[in-house]
Amino acid sequence: MAIQWFPGHMHLTKKAIGERIKDIDVVIELLDARLPASSANPMLAELTGHKPGLKVLNKQDLADPERTQQWLAHYNALPDTRAIGLDASQTTPARQLVEACHALAPNRGGMAKPMRVLICGIPNVGKSTLINTLAGGRKAKTGDEAGITKLEQRITLADDFYLWDTPGMLWPRIIVAKSGYNLAASGAVGRNAFDDEEVALELLDYVKRHYAKGLAARFKLDLDAATVADMQDEELLDAIGRKRGALLGKGRVNLQKAAEIVMHAFRDGSLGRITLETPEEFAAWLAEGEQLDAERRAKKEARSGKGKRAPAADAGT
Ligand code: G4P
Repeated sequence: MAIQWFPGHMHLTKKAIGERIKDIDVVIELLDARLPASSANPMLAELTGHKPGLKVLNKQDLADPERTQQWLAHYNALPDTRAIGLDASQTTPARQLVEACHALAPNRGGMAKPMRVLICGIPNVGKSTLINTLAGGRKAKTGDEAGITKLEQRITLADDFYLWDTPGMLWPRIIVAKSGYNLAASGAVGRNAFDDEEVALELLDYVKRHYAKGLAARFKLDLDAATVADMQDEELLDAIGRKRGALLGKGRVNLQKAAEIVMHAFRDGSLGRITLETPEEFAAWLAEGEQLDAERRAKKEARSGKGKRAPAADAGT
């Protein structure tokens, strides 16, 4: 079943970004380096599309370094876009961010034309951690100053460099089924919105095909990588549960517990440095997702009678 999550209250965030964006020079989007495209927000592109963008692949310490390079190359090839990898071990990330922003908006800088940057990211991507590091000793300004709304926070990275934190949350409508699973596996989705076992099985399905060796080693499966890659997902989850003593009695495995163990091992990096998608894979998933979404919309419109209208009546809606 596809994962859909509605955190609500997004209209305030959209409004605040819409109001702020006209005075912004560069938009930083924080992405999860383990699932860069799935952790992006297409709605953000709609709100900020015409501004230069810096993609920060955060938590790179948990991601497959080779694939991080692929993603960086992918984003760096896009117009008006730069990408850098980052993680919380970086104690002075400001220099990299400042340099990349200046490269994107070379005409900004100096007290007369300070660089004005907006930072955005889905939940759990590490935004608070990064902002705390950036703010360091400097107090992040919130609410009370003229020109800063109650919902916003401004960090002064240098006398001529302002970083605005997006208030609230923007959450994407998930049309790529794999993105839903990857987001859930990463810990970005509220727990009640998905079934742990289903997400763990999807995760195992990918990990066994690309990172079987790490999987076998982490759970001491005593099997070679090729054997692990050939196992059924359910069989793998069962084997992991057994190895870890997640049992219900009469030899049955507690699959819920086993699923939690698998997701936890992915999230804390003990499964190894894993990236759940490549640019090529994501492009294929997106094409499929968009087609299914178009079919769903067409069916919905047909049901609601809209489909009966002449095409001209729908133009501009
Ligand atoms: P958010 O504001 O975007 O929601 O994310 P936040 O900074 O709260 O970070 C979410 C979790 O990700 C935190 O872990 C945080 O420590 C971790 N994290 C942030 N940046 C990095 C990184 O670059 N690498 C790694 N490995 N982890 C990172 P937590 O378990 O939820 O909290 P805590 O145990 O750190 O308190």
